[in-house]
Amino acid sequence: MKKGEIEPRSYRDAMANFAGAVHVVTTDGVAGRRGVTVIAACSVSDTPPTVLVCLNRENRSNDRFAENGVFALNTLASEHRPLAAAFSGMTGLSQTDRFAAAEWETISSGAPALAGAIAVFDCRIVAARSVATHRILIGRVTGLRFGEGEEPLLYFRRDYRLLERD
Ligand SMILES: Cc1cc2nc3c(=O)[nH]c(=O)nc-3n(C[C@H](O)[C@H](O)[C@H](O)COP(=O)(O)O)c2cc1C
Repeated sequence: MKKGEIEPRSYRDAMANFAGAVHVVTTDGVAGRRGVTVIAACSVSDTPPTVLVCLNRENRSNDRFAENGVFALNTLASEHRPLAAAFSGMTGLSQTDRFAAAEWETISSGAPALAGAIAVFDCRIVAARSVATHRILIGRVTGLRFGEGEEPLLYFRRDYRLLERD
């Protein structure tokens, strides 16, 4: 490691202090259905509505997202902690069993939209770029759904958290 370079472990320890919303990003199409728990997702623009998600490209199953050309970013509510664990692979369930644990619909792209998600951003992939270990997928939002009363599920210091009220 060269002088001034940051160790990956230190980077992860610092990033663990970054509180993030938890999403399950899904896809479906010619390459097949898949869902993955992510926190590396954010808004890019409202004109036109655009979001991005970063997926580990060392996991070849994640190629399905680019191959299908669509994804839905499903932002999880506080009750979805077991779903987040299932779609992170921690519980050892197959993709079929992970999807069977919740109710799904389609909005416009054909990617599964989680019924009861705090928000769903249904997207067509308009650009993709590989950076280091990950692939950044940029999605033009083609369909939307959002709730009103649900509380979000958060991830902070390597654990799920809920919002505290003042
Ligand atoms: C809280 C949390 C956040 C995650 N965020 C991301 C992410 O932003 N991008 C990513 O590629 N993987 C992320 N992962 C890891 C993937 O969820 C995991 O590698 C994937 O679901 C494994 O799928 P598989 O068992 O089908 O291979 C995250 C995991 C957890 C628990």
